[in-house]
Amino acid sequence: MKIDVLTLFPESIEGFINESIIKRAISSGKVEINLINFRDYSPLNNKQVDDTPYGGGAGMVLRCEPIFNCLDEIKTPDSYVIMLTPEGNTYNQKIAKSLSLKKHIILLCGHYEGFDERIKTLVDEEISIGDYILTGGEIAASAIIDSVVRLIDGVITKDSLESESFNDNLLDYPTYTKPSEYRGLKVPDVLISGNHELINKWREEQKKEKTKNKRPDLLK
Ligand code: ADE
Repeated sequence: MKIDVLTLFPESIEGFINESIIKRAISSGKVEINLINFRDYSPLNNKQVDDTPYGGGAGMVLRCEPIFNCLDEIKTPDSYVIMLTPEGNTYNQKIAKSLSLKKHIILLCGHYEGFDERIKTLVDEEISIGDYILTGGEIAASAIIDSVVRLIDGVITKDSLESESFNDNLLDYPTYTKPSEYRGLKVPDVLISGNHELINKWREEQKKEKTKNKRPDLLK
């Protein structure tokens, strides 16, 4: 998979992709990630990328030309273009799974008051990572990169992916490790019983119970 990130602040993502699982996925060729500063595509002498909004109002708006120019160069029929914006579809594990199957993802990170509306004509999907306003799309792009890359075939073990929250719309079961008792807090007996049939049954029940209590919206 190839991921291109269009950003005015590539350094803010650089450190993040050079750590841990993402770094390994890049080294092993499972994913290629390019951080592209779209300021380089501004046709203006001073490399300006933003301007005041027509009709007046607060803040600066990202101009069309840098992003259109950049996409002219990098977009192919395999590309899936995502705009990071608080107005987009709320991101979740289902969207992450669908993105992990794409060949080429392009992430557009906004800044300031947002994008000139015409940029949306180039976009396949608008995504928000939650109902709050970030100063730019870089944290949202990083969240998407992290959650998508770990789902690419061979990046982490199948076992790890099978037992985690949001599979089948359920939260994961509770886990414990040694010691079996700590400050009077005991690990449930069933987990120490060695009976795997009982353990699996308990885990399935816990997943449903936990989801019902903490995230009933997932069960709808
Ligand atoms: N840009 C600013 N806020 C955002 C959000 N919540 N999600 C995605 N991109 C954003």
